[in-house]
Amino acid sequence: MAAGKGTRMKSNRPKVLHRLAGRALVDHVTDSAQVLGARRIVLVTGHGAQQVEDAVAQRARALGHAAPVFVRQEPQLGTGHAVQQAVPQLPDDGIALILNGDVPLIAPATLQALVQACGGVRLALLSVRMPDPTGYGRIVRDGGRVVAIVEHKDASDAQRRIDEVYTGFMAVPNALLKRWLARLDNRNAQGEYYLTDVVGHAVADGAEVVAVDCPDRVQVDGVNSPLQLAELERAFQRRNARALLEAGVRLADPERLDVRGALRCGQDVEIDVGCVFEGEVVLGDGVRVGPYCVVRNARIAAGAVLHAYTVIEGDAAGVEVGEGALVGPFARLRPGAKLGAEVHIGNFVEVKNSTLARGAKANHLAYLGDAEVGERVNYGAGSITANYDGANKHRTVIEADVHVGSNCVLVAPVRIGAGGTVGGGSTITKDTAPGALSVARGKQVSIAGWTRPRKAGKG
Ligand code: UD1
Ligand code: CA
Repeated sequence: MAAGKGTRMKSNRPKVLHRLAGRALVDHVTDSAQVLGARRIVLVTGHGAQQVEDAVAQRARALGHAAPVFVRQEPQLGTGHAVQQAVPQLPDDGIALILNGDVPLIAPATLQALVQACGGVRLALLSVRMPDPTGYGRIVRDGGRVVAIVEHKDASDAQRRIDEVYTGFMAVPNALLKRWLARLDNRNAQGEYYLTDVVGHAVADGAEVVAVDCPDRVQVDGVNSPLQLAELERAFQRRNARALLEAGVRLADPERLDVRGALRCGQDVEIDVGCVFEGEVVLGDGVRVGPYCVVRNARIAAGAVLHAYTVIEGDAAGVEVGEGALVGPFARLRPGAKLGAEVHIGNFVEVKNSTLARGAKANHLAYLGDAEVGERVNYGAGSITANYDGANKHRTVIEADVHVGSNCVLVAPVRIGAGGTVGGGSTITKDTAPGALSVARGKQVSIAGWTRPRKAGKG
């Protein structure tokens, strides 16, 4: 269910598209359904339906899975009405697992337990004990057996004292669900079709209703406000950090790490404070990541070091940093950057769509774009590849053992022959021969005894 409005987010964006750990809330929920091996995922949309459907479909395409079946609920007349819209999509022989698009941290194992409790014959509700149950539907029991869920607004004072509440998750055999949904009405305090009324209908039919307790609050906490979103983000990050620590990763401070995707680490990895990892990141054995690095889609090989404030912006193909390479501080590796072993990239160096072979170095203030850089090349401070002529990109090839001086412009397409030297301040527009020294700048003129002009009237 993802049709609700989310007024308290105070946002133009539909609530379920707000992000937690880099994924939309609704993506967390559909991903969990996917993990369970759901035969079909049906997404009920309403508020911002088009935007939600477009975002979900686009992500499914990018990941190469099938998109959910979208069902529109317009207008939104309650949770029961939401599920009624999905009925034509439910085969008679299955089990419906009802999830909330704004409760992102539900664990697949919890859902599995709920489906198991249903067993194709029972109505299984996921419940939780709440110290302050205000606002929630209360689970009403009679002699231990669940007999109803009463919404807060409809509950008597005695019922409001019940602290066992419904979480919004249930598993029901489809055939029974359809029968009970058909009996819902909206004669209640909110004038809505409550999904929770199916419990009363199940009991009336003599069907068994079971409540499965979820001891872990975070899994069933919903997002209704920016504060709740931030709290759940922290809870998620804290758990993720704990799992990394348990796997042997040394985090300088588990409270100051954000992983928005999948971070895989080898042995003896150290991560300093304030780092953000996005997409798929792999850190090999012994990798050290300095403070305040941002790393997206990258494979960092064993023994490499990312010094402070390094920014890596890999696309789906991923940036590669070779074994023992040193990057940063303040380096930027953009899509297509491939650094070989022992490469050094220093401060304020930008690398885009370029391959650097073993031992190549660009230590200061430089740009390498669309370049192929050979082994042991030394690329001087302030040098750039002029790879763009205003219409097309061209490649620069710098062969092995070349020394490019400071402040050079290599105008692509151009090739610098192996072992050659480019004098500082040169603008190179033509290929150079192996071993050659190339200098392309105004010759120096020195005028002996030059007297500088003076201001008039000043002795
Ligand atoms: C619901 C339950 C309540 C439970 C609580 C747990 C009902 C009647 N009540 O209450 O027992 O304790 O969740 O959080 O089900 N939605 C739609 N269409 C609608 C209305 C809601 O798709 O017409 C979606 C919302 O987007 C949301 C979910 O259903 O994802 C729950 O809706 P919400 O309004 O939060 O339900 P509550 O009133 O909090
Ligand atoms: Ca709610």
